[in-house]
Amino acid sequence: MKNLLSMEHLTNEEILHILERARAFENGEGSQLARSYNVANLFFEPSTRTKTSFEMAEHRIGCTVIPFDAGFSSALKGETMYDTVKTLEMIGLDAVVIRAKEDEYYNELLEGINCAVINAGDGAGQHPSQSLLDLYTIQKEFGTFENLKITIVGDISHSRVAKSNAAALTKLGANVRFLCPEEWAGQFEAHHSWDELIHDSDVIMLLRIQHERHSVSKSFSKESYHEQYGLTVEREAQMKDGAIIMHPAPVNRDVEIADELVECERSRIFQQVRNGVFARMAILETILKGRE
Ligand code: CP
Repeated sequence: MKNLLSMEHLTNEEILHILERARAFENGEGSQLARSYNVANLFFEPSTRTKTSFEMAEHRIGCTVIPFDAGFSSALKGETMYDTVKTLEMIGLDAVVIRAKEDEYYNELLEGINCAVINAGDGAGQHPSQSLLDLYTIQKEFGTFENLKITIVGDISHSRVAKSNAAALTKLGANVRFLCPEEWAGQFEAHHSWDELIHDSDVIMLLRIQHERHSVSKSFSKESYHEQYGLTVEREAQMKDGAIIMHPAPVNRDVEIADELVECERSRIFQQVRNGVFARMAILETILKGRE
């Protein structure tokens, strides 16, 4: 694995290897890297979890983290993504972790760039490191993906998390269903009512409404969305024993999920954040080891 760009590119073997290494890291195992690598995190869109989690993962596997402030970089003078990454490569970077608002921004880096590229989110495209930490969370819970019923709820068409997870979970044998308003279904066939989904879901994965990616500002009522598509206390009470709640966060409390459910017994929302560090250690190690 030279880069991590999209879950569509990963085989099941590659996914399972990363999950195995995430588990080893969580169990206290050290990095298998032979040397230290130089890594920078280029975030052209806001982030709390992904950026900090990558930084922590990089430190824990012995990388040197070179600071890069996208909001104070020459990208603001019009420098292209290619020229930015090539410049960092010439300075000595071995890998760059990038979040950008353009879908598939990484296509312009496929030729001529030798440092590793890890996609930390491209527009409404893919979010592979989030998907791998979600898979790790599910695997820890159920031990398998085969035949699990996973319901992804919310702003599907604008969600890179939904696309990455749908691709990966389906490949791994899970039964993925979608629930959202008709206009947010995008390429997917979606349900529009909880009735067929709430009782038998093993995982309910909620998504943030991505207002920043909506082209027309339609009137949107938080209250009516919560009533129709939100996970309310009444709906949570209908979930089956052992079923879990996930959300990539940030969470809009009382919109996609009732405030009091964010840290309820079934919720793995903050556990996902913790698992993200181990998953990202595994991603970085796998990619950098491939270069030794
Ligand atoms: N889940 C996620 O990508 O969160 P951040 O935007 O805070 O990185």
